[in-house]
Amino acid sequence: MYDLIMKVTNEIKSEMKVSTINETFDASKMICDRRSKQNVTVLGVAIFVVSSLELASEVKSVNYVTNNDQRVSYLYFLSKALKIWKDEQIEGLKRVTGFIQAQGSVAGIQLAHAGRKASCTEPWNGGQQIPIEKGGWQVLGPSTIPFKAGTQIPKSISKEEIKRITTDFGKAAKRSLEAGFQIIELHAAHGYLLHEFLSPISNSRTDEYGGSFENRIRLLLEVVNQVQAEWPADRPLFVRISASDWVAGGWNVEESVALSKILLKMGVDLIDCSSGGNVEHAKIPVAPGYQVPFAKQIKHETGILTGTVGLITDAEQAEKILQNEEADLIFMAREFLRDPYFPLHASTKLSEAFAWPVQYQRAK
Ligand SMILES: Cc1cc2nc3c(=O)[nH]c(=O)nc-3n(C[C@H](O)[C@H](O)[C@H](O)COP(=O)(O)O)c2cc1C
Repeated sequence: MYDLIMKVTNEIKSEMKVSTINETFDASKMICDRRSKQNVTVLGVAIFVVSSLELASEVKSVNYVTNNDQRVSYLYFLSKALKIWKDEQIEGLKRVTGFIQAQGSVAGIQLAHAGRKASCTEPWNGGQQIPIEKGGWQVLGPSTIPFKAGTQIPKSISKEEIKRITTDFGKAAKRSLEAGFQIIELHAAHGYLLHEFLSPISNSRTDEYGGSFENRIRLLLEVVNQVQAEWPADRPLFVRISASDWVAGGWNVEESVALSKILLKMGVDLIDCSSGGNVEHAKIPVAPGYQVPFAKQIKHETGILTGTVGLITDAEQAEKILQNEEADLIFMAREFLRDPYFPLHASTKLSEAFAWPVQYQRAK
């Protein structure tokens, strides 16, 4: 069995150019599904693979850095992760989703465009933006407003480029379906391109994509439409937002509620409520469960399902949020990286009848 796993891992590695299978799952999130009022039902793991989109017909990469294609947003940041910007990547991803599903788990994919926060080194190499003269690429944004001092001035994208990016999201959704993913999440949070359009802090456009609330949300709605044209209605479509920029004059929770109402009408299944990421010096009251109130407010004021994320680290905490109807799903990142067996431990803590792998049962 070990040999088989290593063989598959190595094959995936060579095809997908990831250095370890763990890195593939770097951004994994655990989802607890609120199936019953009694207890959280641990679904196991919905593994989210974060992917950059095809934003170019051809990417010329040097050590995975695109010198000449500014549109491939996460390419460097995720140089050791997966991408879905060309059809040739579908076969490799199919094997990843097949393996996940064979273990009784659900494979989801998050589609992202990093906008003005692109062209960065990996977090473990400092996460700083790479200037163009040092091999980075021109980043894109709604306006020529840099993320922070010392970072690139983004190129304000034209309407033609907006159209192409929207189309590329649709193409990535089509590939995701072919590759066997069961959930798509659109990344409209953390100061990446779609969030940059939402927020007046980063969007000072004077055309129909800037200014009023209706204009700032236009790109996201167009992307949702384009994705829905390729993604079956019976497969969940999530949208991750930063519910607040945490700064006066920025995107705020009232706008998040208004946006969520529109997304609900459009058929989006769940709003994954994160926050921040678009303003460097925002004062964020980081504490356990600090983003839960956003999920609660959006859920109760719109009726859409919400997910919550951020400093949720134990089973009882997660369970309480669900029992209190503050959110419908729990997303976890770092705790799940610390403890990949979290679903097993959580099921024991909550006395949930969750099937441990047979060979692990003696450790229960
Ligand atoms: C290694 C790592 C990679 C991440 N990558 C992404 C990502 O690609 N997209 C995203 O929306 N959030 C990403 N995040 C943020 C997490 O999804 C999550 O919002 C954040 O870590 C807070 O949750 P936590 O306290 O459970 O870690 C990442 C987090 C970590 C630790």
